[in-house]
Amino acid sequence: MTLPDSVESVLLDEETIATRVRELAAQISADYADEDDLILVGVLKGAFIFLADLSRRLTVSHHVDFIALSSYSLGTTNSGAVRLIMDARMSVAGRNVLIVEDILDTGHTLDYLLRTFRARRPASLRSCVLLSKPERREIEVPVDYLGFEIPDAWVVGYGLDFADRFRTLPYIGVLKQRVYE
Ligand code: IMP
Ligand code: MG
Repeated sequence: MTLPDSVESVLLDEETIATRVRELAAQISADYADEDDLILVGVLKGAFIFLADLSRRLTVSHHVDFIALSSYSLGTTNSGAVRLIMDARMSVAGRNVLIVEDILDTGHTLDYLLRTFRARRPASLRSCVLLSKPERREIEVPVDYLGFEIPDAWVVGYGLDFADRFRTLPYIGVLKQRVYE
């Protein structure tokens, strides 16, 4: 496979991702089998492909909604502050909310999301995150469904970007260090 010039290597290929997404969907479907009113809240833009694949594998009925946040101004440097750019459309009070996020890095974004949604009094609140970089954590946040733990490197593809590029690569690849330094 020929990789784009900026991509160092493939960390997770299409098949590996698809298998894990199927497993997560099976687990979530089993856990919510007796519940109705499940809402998946995808975090734009990074989670859009993961959410699309995950939701189509669920065997429980559910709604899909989105929220858009920004924690990184452009490249890979965390500005610290999380900004709400677009809120969810659906009311979540009394309903089962599952936040779907692409990657857990410092933890600030998911922590902000969980606090924001908890204040809206959902019947239950859980998180499903595709990737986690444990070495980078600054704040502990609970993850109910995790796809993969990965090393501390900047990854792109399958929805994840660098400066809004590389989102539509079908695999998850490691960005060359010189690109983000
Ligand atoms: P946190 O608040 O530091 O946990 O950052 C989470 C957000 O940072 C994610 O939702 C991504 O948008 C972004 N992010 C962190 N690491 C990466 C990466 O390796 N590739 C792409 N985006 C990343
Ligand atoms: Mg994100």
